[in-house]
Amino acid sequence: MCGIVGYIGTFRDPKEVLLTGLKHLEYRGYDSAGVAWLENGKTHIEKCKGKVAQLENQIKNVSIKSTIALGHTRWATHGKPSTINAHPHQVGNITVVHNGIIENYIELKKELRAQGYTFQSETDTEVIACLIKKESEKSKTLEESVQKALRKLQGSYAIVVMNELEPEKLVAAKKASPLVIGIGKKEYFLASDIPALLSFTKQVAYLDDYETAILTPHRVEFQNMKGEHISKKITTITWSAQTIEKAGFEHFMLKEIYEQPQAIIHTLSGNLSENHDKVLLPLEEAFFNNVQTIYLIACGTAWHASLIGKYLLEKFANIRAEIDLASEFRYRNPILKENDLLIVTSQSGETADSLAALQLAKERGIKTLAICNAKESSIARAADQIIYTEAGPEIGVASTKAFTTQILIFNLLSLYLAQKNKNVSKEILELTKIPSYMEQVLSQAEKIKNIASKYYQKLAALYMGRDILYPIALEGALKLKEIAYIQAHGYPAGEMKHGPIALVDQELPVIALLQNDSIFEKMMSNVEEVKAREGIVIAISQKPIKIADDNIILPLAQWHINPFLYSIPIQLFAYYMARFKGTDVDQPRNLAKSVTVE
Ligand code: M6R
Repeated sequence: MCGIVGYIGTFRDPKEVLLTGLKHLEYRGYDSAGVAWLENGKTHIEKCKGKVAQLENQIKNVSIKSTIALGHTRWATHGKPSTINAHPHQVGNITVVHNGIIENYIELKKELRAQGYTFQSETDTEVIACLIKKESEKSKTLEESVQKALRKLQGSYAIVVMNELEPEKLVAAKKASPLVIGIGKKEYFLASDIPALLSFTKQVAYLDDYETAILTPHRVEFQNMKGEHISKKITTITWSAQTIEKAGFEHFMLKEIYEQPQAIIHTLSGNLSENHDKVLLPLEEAFFNNVQTIYLIACGTAWHASLIGKYLLEKFANIRAEIDLASEFRYRNPILKENDLLIVTSQSGETADSLAALQLAKERGIKTLAICNAKESSIARAADQIIYTEAGPEIGVASTKAFTTQILIFNLLSLYLAQKNKNVSKEILELTKIPSYMEQVLSQAEKIKNIASKYYQKLAALYMGRDILYPIALEGALKLKEIAYIQAHGYPAGEMKHGPIALVDQELPVIALLQNDSIFEKMMSNVEEVKAREGIVIAISQKPIKIADDNIILPLAQWHINPFLYSIPIQLFAYYMARFKGTDVDQPRNLAKSVTVE
C-alpha cells in the first residue's frame, strides 16, 4: 500500500534520500509517486502517475536545495491513479502525505466546501490537508493544528505534514497505519517501513497509534494527541542494507525462494534445545494452561500457513483449532470463551483485517499470540505474546520464505505443546533436516522451469491435494493467480467430484500433490479420474506417477515436514510461469505487500 518517506537535516541531498527510500518501498505496491520540499519558504511539488523511475526522470534536472522534504508512493483507494490524485497534497501553506483511509471524508468534504474550501483531487487525503490548514489559522504550532485536525478523522492514517510558515519542522502522526522515525546525527528520517531507512540509519523509533512526532534538524520530540510529551524507545535494526538488495537474482521473489533454507535455520535457532530433542519457545510458562480452543486467524498466504497449523496442532498437541479469515472473523461476532486463545499470523504485522481481529479478541478478553516476521510491527506489539519468524525482509509481494517459516513456527508450537505429555523428540529432530531437504528440491529448479515453459499460455489451472497438502494446493493456486494472472483453484482432492471435475478437459493442467501416506491411493484415484477426462497432470510426489504428464519427485520425509518440500515446486512453478508470460513478478498489478487498509 502507500509508502511514505520524509527527511529533515542538512547533511544529505533530500532528492537522494527520497528516491532511495521510495524505491525501497516499491514492493508495497503503488500506482503513482510524488515528492515535495520547501525552498526559500515556498513549497515545490513534483508528482506523476506510474513508477518511481518516471518521477526520477521527471526531476532529473531539478536540484533540491532544501533541508526538509517528503516523498510518497500512492496505491489508489479514493480516486483513480492520476497525477492530480498522487500525493503530496497542498492546501495553502500546508502539505501532506498520507497512508490509510479516512472513512468520514465525504461528510468532512461537504462541511469544508460549505465553508468555502475547494478541492483539486478526488482523494480523502486532501481533506486532511484542508483540516490542518483550517486549524493552523487558530493554532500556535503545526503540531497543535495536526493534533486538532486528527480528532475529526475516522479511519486509518499515517501522515507527515510540512508548513511553509514553520520551515524547520516536520510533523508526523499515525493511527492503524505504520510509521517509523529514523534517527541520525542531527538529521531525521520518516518511512512507512524499515527498508526505506536502512541506507541511512539503523536507529529507529516506532510511532504508536495516537502519537505525534515533531522533527527538526536538531531533535525529535514525541507527544500524545493532547500535546503532552512522551518518551519512546529507540531500537537498533539488525538487518544489513544488503538484505534488501537482489544479490544477483533477477527478482526478489526468486532470491527469497532460495533463501528459505537459511530462513528455516534462523527461525529454528534458539528455539531448540542443544540436543535438538526439545522445543524452547519464548512464551510464558502458564500461557497455554487450560486453553480449550485455538482460533487461527490470518489473511492470504498466512491463512494457508495457519490452516497447516490446524492440522499440526490437532495431530501433535491434541488441541481443537478453528481457522478463520481475519476479514470474516472480525465481522461475524464469533463465540469466544474464557479459555480460548487467538493466534494471528502475519508477515508484515500490519494487515488491517488481522490487526482488527486481534483487537476484537483482546476486547473480548481472550489470550492472544502473534506469529510475525516484522519486528515491532503493530500486530507484534498488540498481542499478549509474540513468536517471530526469522525470515528477514520479504520484499516480493508473493510471500514465500515468510510462508515456510510460519509453517515452521506452527510445527514448533505443536511439538512444544505435545512434548509436555509425550515423547516427540524424533519429530523435533526431523525439523533440523528441513534445510537440506529444501536444498534438494531447489536443485530441481531447471526441471520445474521446463515444465512451466510448456504450460504458461494456459488460461487456467487446478491444484489438488489432501490432508496437510490441501493448504499447499490453495497456496499454489494463489501464487499462480497473483504473479502469473492465471485463473487457478486449489481444492481438497476429495471435493473434485462435487464440482471442479467439470472443469477438466485437455486444456486444463491439474497439479496433483501426492505424499506417500495412507491416503496415497485415494489421491491416485483422483489423478486417474483427471486422466480419464483427458486433463493434463503435473504430479508433485515422492515416487514417479507413470500416468502423469510431468513428474516432480521430492525426497521422502515425515508427514509434518512435507509442507516445506511441496511449497518450493509450487513457488518455482508460479515464478517461471510468470517469467515466461512476462508479468511483473515482484510487484504484480493491483496488489500491495502490506495491506494496511481493509
Ligand atoms: O503481511 P501478512 O502476512 O498479514 O499478509 C497477508 C496477505 O496479504 C499475504 O499473505 C498475501 O496473500 C500475499 N501476497 C500472498 O503471496
